[in-house]
Amino acid sequence: AKVIYIGSTGHEYAVEATVGESVMATAVKNGIPGIVAECGGNCSCATCHVWVGEEFAPAVGPPGDMEEDLLDMAVSERRGTSRLACQIRVTEALDGLTVEIPPEQP
Ligand code: FES
Repeated sequence: AKVIYIGSTGHEYAVEATVGESVMATAVKNGIPGIVAECGGNCSCATCHVWVGEEFAPAVGPPGDMEEDLLDMAVSERRGTSRLACQIRVTEALDGLTVEIPPEQP
């Protein structure tokens, strides 16, 4: 499935993702800048915060409880479609998914 990462400068990185892997792991594997993923996907750092493209928000779904708390602590503005990339699993239904990477992610 294809995932398109949109950097804070507007640059788009389209990568081929493996179904079952997280959007965070896919980004790290492909060297996408801005997804730091300090905790390695344990849902405890919030440095993999992304804004999911509006049209995919229903398919991606809402954040879980733990994720919910972390999103409040994320460095960048929390929006309606904010998610932690390590908590989004790539599926065929998400083919073409776009996620925007916030500008500052220490
Ligand atoms: Fe740390 Fe997602 S990688 S919360």
